[in-house]
This record gives sequence, structure tokens and C-alpha cells, in this order.
Amino acid sequence: SGDGRAPTPEALLHLARQAAAAGAEVLARRDPAALGATSKSSDSDWVTAFDVAAERAVRRVVLDSRPHDAITGEELGTTVPAGSGAAGIRWSIDPLDGTTNFIRNIVYYGTSVAAADADGTWLAGVVHAPALRRIYWASRGGGAWLSDQGRVRRLAGPGTDRGRILGTGFSYDAATRAGQVDDLGAFLHGFGDLRTLGSAALDLCMVADGSLDAFVERGLHEHDIAAGALIAEEAGVVVLRPPLRSVLDGGPTEAERLAAVTAAGTPGFLAAVRGSAAPTS
Ligand code: IPD
Repeated sequence: SGDGRAPTPEALLHLARQAAAAGAEVLARRDPAALGATSKSSDSDWVTAFDVAAERAVRRVVLDSRPHDAITGEELGTTVPAGSGAAGIRWSIDPLDGTTNFIRNIVYYGTSVAAADADGTWLAGVVHAPALRRIYWASRGGGAWLSDQGRVRRLAGPGTDRGRILGTGFSYDAATRAGQVDDLGAFLHGFGDLRTLGSAALDLCMVADGSLDAFVERGLHEHDIAAGALIAEEAGVVVLRPPLRSVLDGGPTEAERLAAVTAAGTPGFLAAVRGSAAPTS
């Protein structure tokens, strides 16, 4: 339904939630004997049979309702169905963000699903973490929300009254990783502690719900952050992407400014920081 006409963010969110739930259901059937783990681009970049099965499940739900939408997924690439483009919607899927955690049964992982309009504006995003029994979601203009073991609350980003914790993650690419290790000395300046939790999608949700005060990582891909960045923005968090210039005057604190300056121009760099400035994207 809705093909040819621009769907509302709320309608896309409804479908994104169903699709992410289908992916999460696959992950919830995690079986250590059936992981089928193999490495991809480097010896820290893994994929399992569950990544692929979850992406198939997400795609099926999206295409059942919106057969003409384009889809980009981490494992199965970009598909643009014949006769596509009438409504111009494109979906971005990370079926299993936190694959390394999943393999090791560290429960911090989930399915990330987001939808953008023809201009590339993200309209809806969901991160569903089945082992945490948490679902984070946002639609553009509709706020950011968390269902935590069935209890729902609206998210408002980090508070200002505590010691500050910076989240980060490490790219699978050795050069990107080395650059980030150098960055961290500078980033850490304004923070009391550091976490590397293992899922960029969920890390952004952690800034949205105030568990982390900021998150920074080089070399992220669209599928890692499409949903999480919208969720963070809708929680009032400033998400900095290159070229970053627009946020350098005003808004961010000294540490946040330093982070932005240090990483300016780095492809795929993203930082989510406390603040109230409207994202300029
Ligand atoms: C990875 C995770 C990790 C981040 C990597 C991502 P994947 O995604 O988000 O936290 O540090 O850069 O590639 O491979 O588990 O989907």
C-alpha cells in the first residue's frame, strides 16, 4: 500500500518496527552450534548465518508491504526492484549490528532498520535488541522512544549532572583504526571514562537514552548508524557528520568541539554529543 504516494514517517516507522522485529526474532534463535561464522574484510570482521537469515527476514517484511522500495543491506547489498522509485523510499538494514558480540554471546547486539525519502532524509529508524528486550525507535519529528522490557518512555539524551562517559568503537579497517586510536587521546580529554560496547547502532541509542554522554567512531557505514543517528537526533542529541563546520560555532562543549575539529574531513566519522542545537546533517 502507499506506492506512488509519499508515505508518512509514522507509516514507515510502523513497518520498520515490524521488519526489525522479524530480524530480531531470527537473532533470538541464536544457536552456538549453527553460527557458521566466517571472516569478511579482516580478521576482526565477522559474519554469521544469522546475519544473512535476519536480513532476509527484514527484507521480506518490507517488500511484502512496499514491493517497489529500494533496499540497501549490509549482507545482501542494494536491490532496486523493477518499477521502483515511485515513492522514492530507500531502506537501510543492518540485520545484526554487533556481530562479534553475538558470536561470543555478549548480549549487546540488535537489528537496525531505517527508511529515507528520495532526498536521503531519514524518516524512521528502529534498533531492536532481542537479548536486552529493548526496542528503540524514532520517526522524524515524532521523538525518540524506548521500550525497555515492555515499558515505554520518551528519550531526551544525556543529563548534565554526572561524570561523563564517552562511547567508541573500532573499525575493522587497520588504517582507520590506527587513526582513531590517535584521536582518542584528544577525545578523552573532556570525559571521565570510556566504553567500547560493540554495536554502533546501540551506542547511538545509549546516547539517546543518556546511558552514554557521547559516542565517536571513525569509518562507520550507513547501515551501522542510519537508525541510531535518527534516534539520537530525535532525543535532542547533536549528531556531527563531515563537513561539521556548521556545528563548530556554538552548541557543543570544548571537548565536543575538539572531537569535531580533530575528525573533520574523515570519511564516515560520526560523533553524537550532548546539546540542543538542531541537527544540520
Ligand atoms: C560493527 C559494530 C561495531 C563498530 C564497527 C561496526 P557489525 O557493525 O557496530 O560496534 O565498531 O565499526 O562495523 O559488523 O557488527 O554490523
